[in-house]
Amino acid sequence: MGGGYGFQPGAGKPGRRRPGRDKNGSDKNGSDKNGSLLRPDVKVTFAAERADAGIDDILAEVNRELVGLAVVKRRIEEIAALLLVDRARRRFGLTAPRPNLHMCFTGAPGTGKTTVALRMAQLLHRLGYIETPQLVHAMRDDLVGEYIGQTAPKTKRVLERAKGGVLFIDEAYYLYRGNDSKDYGQEAIEILLQVMENDRDKLVVILAGYKDRMDMFFESNPGMRSRLAHHLDFASYDIGELTAIGTLMLDRTNYYLSPEAEVVLRAEVSRMMSEPHFANARTVRNELELARLRHAHRIASDAHREWTRDELMRLEPADVLAGEPVPGQSPS
Ligand SMILES: Nc1ncnc2c1ncn2[C@@H]1O[C@H](COP(=O)(O)OP(=O)(O)OP(=O)(O)O)[C@@H](O)[C@H]1O
Ligand SMILES: [Mg+2]
Repeated sequence: MGGGYGFQPGAGKPGRRRPGRDKNGSDKNGSDKNGSLLRPDVKVTFAAERADAGIDDILAEVNRELVGLAVVKRRIEEIAALLLVDRARRRFGLTAPRPNLHMCFTGAPGTGKTTVALRMAQLLHRLGYIETPQLVHAMRDDLVGEYIGQTAPKTKRVLERAKGGVLFIDEAYYLYRGNDSKDYGQEAIEILLQVMENDRDKLVVILAGYKDRMDMFFESNPGMRSRLAHHLDFASYDIGELTAIGTLMLDRTNYYLSPEAEVVLRAEVSRMMSEPHFANARTVRNELELARLRHAHRIASDAHREWTRDELMRLEPADVLAGEPVPGQSPS
């Protein structure tokens, strides 16, 4: 299995090897800095292992930057734990075959799939499972050609680009068009399946999209389902979470909502939740960008009034409310 250029998990990355070896992991206790095995009597703690792998900050960031998503966060912790234990086992010379790491992220638009995939790529890289934290994003059009003979080279080019990192295939089910016998999507799927099986040590594939469509896709492509080790489902956010996401986004950019504006944002987002193109956290982000635009216009258009620092940070109901188009902007 695999070619000769596979990446050894935990083989070590420059500058990341055990910065703070604890008393059990120090050189004199059984291992040297070149990564030779730990002596059998050495003990390890997982606080030290986590710090050593440098994953604490990634996990902390996931917790800090993402509101809610308790189930997803837990799965990330579990995957990290699995890989961390594997890594420690390898350091003792115990067999730790590389686990299958291909994943499927399902959920509605704007629920954080891409954001988590980027973090996952960093995590896998820190733990030594991929050579680079790079994530290559691809959709059907990047993989499937229109004419005979185009698909294989297209797919292989993307795979080549993603090699060593994560290949993130958005709306993966569009690869398959069951009712179209002349479609080349199946050819791309076959190549992907082969690489996912044979070159597991070279790249991690994450498929993403709506859950129901993904389930249908797996019905027609059971081989794909069986190659995925982890399925993370991203639930749509409730109004409390969406408001918290908005507050967090504003806080990061030194803005905040006045209490009245928060009430208005809540009502506005609640209304939008039932609209067909509602995209969870992305809709909130877009609404807040519009609010910043209205805020800036409100402030700047009163050219001789004096404004405080606080007023430059604070969004008011008139800024948040749609239906008050900024003059010169087409209402959307
Ligand atoms: N739980 C969350 N907390 C804070 N911000 C979030 C959360 N989920 C998503 N976001 C933000 O919302 C935006 C959209 O998220 P992202 O692109 O990851 O969603 P997605 O699931 O990949 O959407 P799509 O299916 O449309 O590609 C990003 O700016 C992201 O940081
Ligand atoms: Mg996305």
